[in-house]
Amino acid sequence: PRGVGWICNHLYQYQGFWYTARKLLGAINCQGHFKAQDTDLLLVTNPKSGTTWLKAIAFAIVNRKRYSFSHHPLLTTNPHELVPFLEIKLYVDDHVPDLATFTSPRLFSTHLPYLSLPDSVKHSKCKVVFLCRDPKDTFISLWHFTSKLRTSGQEPISLEEAFHRFCRGVSLYGPFWDHVLGYWNESQERPDRVCFFKYEEMKEQPAVHIRRLAKFLGYPFSPEEEEEGTVEEIFRLCSFDTLSNLDVNKNGKMESGEEYRTFFRRGVVGDWVNYLTPEMVDEFNRITDQKLGGSGLTF
Ligand code: A3P
Repeated sequence: PRGVGWICNHLYQYQGFWYTARKLLGAINCQGHFKAQDTDLLLVTNPKSGTTWLKAIAFAIVNRKRYSFSHHPLLTTNPHELVPFLEIKLYVDDHVPDLATFTSPRLFSTHLPYLSLPDSVKHSKCKVVFLCRDPKDTFISLWHFTSKLRTSGQEPISLEEAFHRFCRGVSLYGPFWDHVLGYWNESQERPDRVCFFKYEEMKEQPAVHIRRLAKFLGYPFSPEEEEEGTVEEIFRLCSFDTLSNLDVNKNGKMESGEEYRTFFRRGVVGDWVNYLTPEMVDEFNRITDQKLGGSGLTF
């Protein structure tokens, strides 16, 4: 496709970020065809930053009047089916989906960097939620995920090699730091349009951030709902323990063949201590300081 720069071990660079061939075609197709509506809600993450969790929480918030917590779609359907990815699921390859069946507000997700969002998203009033995660945990999670997805015929990629690529920015939707910074800057300039969350903060104070998310999305909790414990219900329903133990998430798979259980590994903060050498940690910190220094964003 036009505009594709270089190719590195089957990742293709487009508008400064790295994609697999399939995701790149999906991205270009989505840029060309997706028409955002003012009422759309778009959930954005870097891969392995807690996308599945964010999808579950946002879906539960927005649809809480439609479903009871005991018969909730999240109990039988994986969050990725309830909140589809634009460039990975809906606009995959050169398919142009019919979105007429989606009722308002439409909830979509994407890993696209801010720069590469379809123009209609940038020019509409639709709300964008960005969730990020410490680069060290994101990297470890990504390494596990891609190791599991590699088919038996492919060479496993060592942690060291994956680390060097990640630090050079050559990772899926990388460079990680530029991806995060694009949304951070936008959230500072237009806080009514882009709201920024951190995985670590959500783990520490889930109720605070579920309320913040609900308010930003335009679905704040009423005093009655607060009284009834709705925030806690949503937190419990979307927790790692609940979702990872559901039959659908233990045994189901995506159309593309990826098993849902690969999206649930440990779900904790700081697992990187079990994998990274002190030199690797120094390198992560150095890049983070260099790329994010002065932006106000820290990890
Ligand atoms: P780990 O590999 O560190 O365990 P994504 O959803 O963006 O693919 O991210 C996957 C990461 O989020 C994995 O991290 C996964 O375990 C974690 N995760 C999935 N569901 C979660 C939940 N409900 N709460 C917290 N973390 C969750």
